Amino acid sequence: MMDESNPYLPYTVKIEDAWYETPGERAIKTFKVSFADEKVSDTWTHEPGQCAMVGLLGIGESMFCISSSPTEKGYLRFSIMLMGKVTSALHQLEAGDTMSVRGPFGNGFPLADWEGRNIVTIGGGIGQAPLRPIIEYIRDDGNRDKYEELMVVYGSRTSKDLCFQDELDCFMAEEGTECCLSVDIEEEKWDHFVGFVPNLLMEVEPSPENSIAITCGPPIMIKFVIGNLEKLGFKPEQIYTTLENRMKCGIGKCGRCNVGHLYVCKDGPVFSYATLKEIPEAFA
Ligand SMILES: Cc1cc2nc3c(=O)[nH]c(=O)nc-3n(C[C@H](O)[C@H](O)[C@H](O)COP(=O)(O)OP(=O)(O)OC[C@H]3O[C@@H](n4cnc5c(N)ncnc54)[C@H](O)[C@@H]3O)c2cc1C
Ligand code: FES
Repeated sequence: MMDESNPYLPYTVKIEDAWYETPGERAIKTFKVSFADEKVSDTWTHEPGQCAMVGLLGIGESMFCISSSPTEKGYLRFSIMLMGKVTSALHQLEAGDTMSVRGPFGNGFPLADWEGRNIVTIGGGIGQAPLRPIIEYIRDDGNRDKYEELMVVYGSRTSKDLCFQDELDCFMAEEGTECCLSVDIEEEKWDHFVGFVPNLLMEVEPSPENSIAITCGPPIMIKFVIGNLEKLGFKPEQIYTTLENRMKCGIGKCGRCNVGHLYVCKDGPVFSYATLKEIPEAFA
């Protein structure tokens, strides 16, 4: 529900809660925010996969996926990895502080088209953030019957670098959801897979039969995951990803975010592999 008359106009949001998902130099912090203006809150809509510009007056703004599902009412979530200027300033904020949100931008995942299918999400590190809204949308009581099996395949460097840990524990215990985790390097008390996400995928071997696979993570991971999905028999039109090219305007004006003839901010960030395989630089 972007303000079409002025897409540059940000909304003020209040941080209801904020917590660290992961520690370290590249810490990831989740912000649960609500709109200061009730009218905006009542009319805001977004689809899983859409993004928003999040920022601080006088500092700047950056693009982040909305990591909550539209089925989670009354708030938005953003899970933000510490990178540079904007993310450092955002990480200083706590519950009660305000920040700005502009959006939603881009397309979402075509979840209505996927009804009746098995859904496999394959994430690496912070790449789980855009996959979370898909998972939560499907797990919502109002939607669960519309989809078949849900398989969550997720890995990170170490177990401390896995986001949304409590939720992963829930998936493990849930009927109709399979959760398969990995860490890159062996560690004590880890009783899941050890190795990279593309290898975990080959270990758990999701069936391509009536399935859709969605992957997000570092470009190199996406490349190998897609290769392995094809080995498992997934066709390009059964594979989706979301790209995170650097952006400035977010509305198709500045030309900063293009892959081939496509603007990630306007035509994406969600693409099917059937579209991307025609563009060699998409995973460069
Ligand atoms: C559609 C989209 C969705 C995104 N979703 C998320 C999300 O959910 N969570 C999240 O943590 N981040 C996400 N990002 C990445 C996020 O926008 C950048 O990390 C952020 O802009 C960095 O801002 P900064 O001012 O802190 O860093 P800067 O000071 O601008 O940069 C610091 C370092 O990070 C690198 N960098 C900055 N942006 C990117 C990028 N897009 N890709 C690769 N390297 C980059 C720079 O080259 C530089 O080395 C997303 C990006 C896009 C385009
Ligand atoms: S960010 Fe400006 S055209 Fe995409």
